[in-house]
Amino acid sequence: MKKINFYEHEIGKNFRDVNKSISSLFLTSGPITRKVEKLVSKRFNKKYCYLTNSWTNGVISLFLSLNLKKEDEVIIPANTFVACANVVEMVGCKLVIADIDKDTKLLSIPDTLKKITKKTKLIMPVHIYGNIFNVSELKRKIRKNIMILEDCAHCFSGKYENRIIGNNSDFSVFSFYATKNITCGEGGAIILNDKNYYDKIKSISNNGMTKPAMKRFENNKYSHWDVTNKGFKANMSDINASLLEKQIRIYNKQTQKRKKIYKYFYNKISNIKSISMPKTNFNVIRDYHLFPIGVNGKFRDKLISYLNKNNIQVTVNYRSITELTYYKKKYKFKCNEGEKWGRQTLSLPFHLKISKKNIDYICSKLKIFFSN
Ligand SMILES: Cc1ncc(COP(=O)(O)O)c(C=O)c1O
Repeated sequence: MKKINFYEHEIGKNFRDVNKSISSLFLTSGPITRKVEKLVSKRFNKKYCYLTNSWTNGVISLFLSLNLKKEDEVIIPANTFVACANVVEMVGCKLVIADIDKDTKLLSIPDTLKKITKKTKLIMPVHIYGNIFNVSELKRKIRKNIMILEDCAHCFSGKYENRIIGNNSDFSVFSFYATKNITCGEGGAIILNDKNYYDKIKSISNNGMTKPAMKRFENNKYSHWDVTNKGFKANMSDINASLLEKQIRIYNKQTQKRKKIYKYFYNKISNIKSISMPKTNFNVIRDYHLFPIGVNGKFRDKLISYLNKNNIQVTVNYRSITELTYYKKKYKFKCNEGEKWGRQTLSLPFHLKISKKNIDYICSKLKIFFSN
């Protein structure tokens, strides 16, 4: 069997949009970026969208715009990509790690409630694997002045209690990193309704300047700019943005295909007793991004090597952040469910190019592994 990749992107071979962006004068954020922003804000029914060069840099500009203080606390789930913890560290406020739910592997609401203090400023639930976290349920249980940021790196569709993702929180941030369902290599998008934060994010992610490149040369005339915020560089270029439009327009159709593949895979794996899978959350419509499974922690790494030897690429999403050296040393959080899942889980190949034959092959290898 030819190697089964963990991930395959859907960019295709039609580079008409990229060629168009390269033939224009400005390669940086310009008309194509603005067009994609409109498409994203409309899709999620939000007033504003700002495209960034990654989820990570997008969230850093957002956190800087909130003016978070050293003593402010931000709660994240134990099992997520480390960027969720890093952004809190980078702006210098206090990280708080809450455990995950045993069944769904999403942020545990009961543990989050235990970890809320007077200093809690923001909670960052993650719609991990495309399984949607119920933001409305959390919101009903917390103080009004705690902000919510939805980490939408693993989804571009989905609903909780009949609301589209992003529609009962303050901010939502997407990732267009290489392995995501929509990608431009590296990229991100922030959606929000607050004009004040939107203006600040735009300036902060453009070195604190009052005018982006296009505005500085508008109507063939140079005009001065000022710096009104501390800033860095996090804007997306038109070249990257030109890869996104088509993927966004076909996303819903692709999701239906992904769902079919997911169901086929899920049913096949359900027959293997030694394997568990996260449960889809209650009261949500989910998206489909990764295909994680759980096995006895004693065999996990052996299984990874066995699958690799059989030309099946796998990865781990994710070990608990409480067990990563930097965070273990600095903070003493203990998250039992998260740490257990972090030792048990591995993600199987899952994308639109995977065939039934590939899935059958993966399942047959898993069966052989567990029968020995
Ligand atoms: C859950 C989650 N959050 C955040 C990120 C960071 O995204 P980016 O690489 O675009 O900064 C990722 C990327 O892998 C992720 O999986």
